[in-house]
Amino acid sequence: VIDIRKLYAQTGKFTYDPGFLSTASCQSSITYIDGDKGELLYRGYPIEQLAVNCDFLETCHLLLNGDLPNAAEKKDFVSRVTKHTMVNEQMQFFMRGFRRDAHPMAVLTGLVGGMSAFYHDTTDVTNPQHREIAAIRLIAKMPTLVAMAYKYSVGQPYIYPKNDLSYSANFMRMMFGTPCEEYQPDDVLVRAMDRIFILHADHEQNASTSTVRLCGSSGTNPYAAIAAGVACLWGPAHGGANEACLNMLADIQQMGGVAKIGEFITKVKDKNSSVKLMGFGHRVYKNYDPRAKLMRETCHEVLGALGLENDPMFKLAMALEKIALEDEYFVARKLYPNVDFYSGIVQRAIGIPVSLFTAVFALARTVGWIAQLNEMISDPEYKIGRPRQLFTGSATRQVKPLAER
Ligand code: ACO
Repeated sequence: VIDIRKLYAQTGKFTYDPGFLSTASCQSSITYIDGDKGELLYRGYPIEQLAVNCDFLETCHLLLNGDLPNAAEKKDFVSRVTKHTMVNEQMQFFMRGFRRDAHPMAVLTGLVGGMSAFYHDTTDVTNPQHREIAAIRLIAKMPTLVAMAYKYSVGQPYIYPKNDLSYSANFMRMMFGTPCEEYQPDDVLVRAMDRIFILHADHEQNASTSTVRLCGSSGTNPYAAIAAGVACLWGPAHGGANEACLNMLADIQQMGGVAKIGEFITKVKDKNSSVKLMGFGHRVYKNYDPRAKLMRETCHEVLGALGLENDPMFKLAMALEKIALEDEYFVARKLYPNVDFYSGIVQRAIGIPVSLFTAVFALARTVGWIAQLNEMISDPEYKIGRPRQLFTGSATRQVKPLAER
């Protein structure tokens, strides 16, 4: 690793690295990825162990505070989060300003940014107490906001949080409950939801996390910085891939299903086409994404519990994966399924509409964004993020009066 800052101080030279292929933007002790091995650790704990032994709020405690909670710490943390699950009643009027057919990520970007107007007692990012309360508020209120965005889009009344339920069961009740009928969460589905949250909770310096860090480095408030992360996550090359992947599977299904995979793969490999195999490939993983393995396992469990073992979309996804993993194009480029390849199928089975998939991802990633923002702000050496550029424009020229141009 070369410390370019020293080189710059001595020589004035800087590096050119669009897309940050080979530039570390920070030091971090939160999440570790070994892309060649396909290994992912949160604060040193393998994701496989966290997914099996912990729930999402324990994972949040881990990411925010550096370690898993003991029983007393967990009780305290859960109680602090559940105290904040309600959102300011005025937010429903803010929501009312949106079209009902707006994309949930457009709505969520607005709502999260708007939180700084509703909770302006915690907007000083340099104040550790403000950051702590903002963190709890964001983690607690994201499920409420995502469920509100969904209920608004289908024209149903909002369901208020019920704090004796677990984080994930509460989210599902706010999504699928109605005032006429109490929602009975299914344990397998709740566990699957929780696993989706755990697997998406943090992933070191991806595009949205780097966006949160860059945005937060100006000293803006935590809600604004997280809203920037939500906006970045929306893109199909990032969090939007789960929605894009399910749409792709639906397209192949419409083309004729498994029999048409070869034709689709040929299109993907064509250098003149912009078609990508969504849910495949990763900047860091050059091996199977460990989250995708866990997600595929969850897929089996959920579809089994729902009696949907023969779900055509799941069969199509597995056949597509098999063909791609044996294809020279994908082998040569070390392209493997990423977490989004199977997460959409699980979410769809749970009953979450495709357009809400990325909002669910944002809900889960909020804790990672906050942990990374806290880490950056707490570092005494942190500076505003300010990349340099290689200027390729015109040399100095003189402005001519309008009549002479
Ligand atoms: N389908 C087909 N070809 C691909 C794919 C894909 N999904 N991903 C990469 N490639 C090819 C590229 O065309 C390139 O080929 P070339 O060397 O012949 O030009 C080669 O593999 C290397 O790809 P890059 O684009 O350089 O890889 P990069 O690290 O910049 O991009 C990314 C990673 C954005 C994830 C990319 O793999 C992609 O677009 N995947 C599909 C979208 C997706 O699933 N995103 C989710 C990522 S995980 C997450 O955010 C949670």
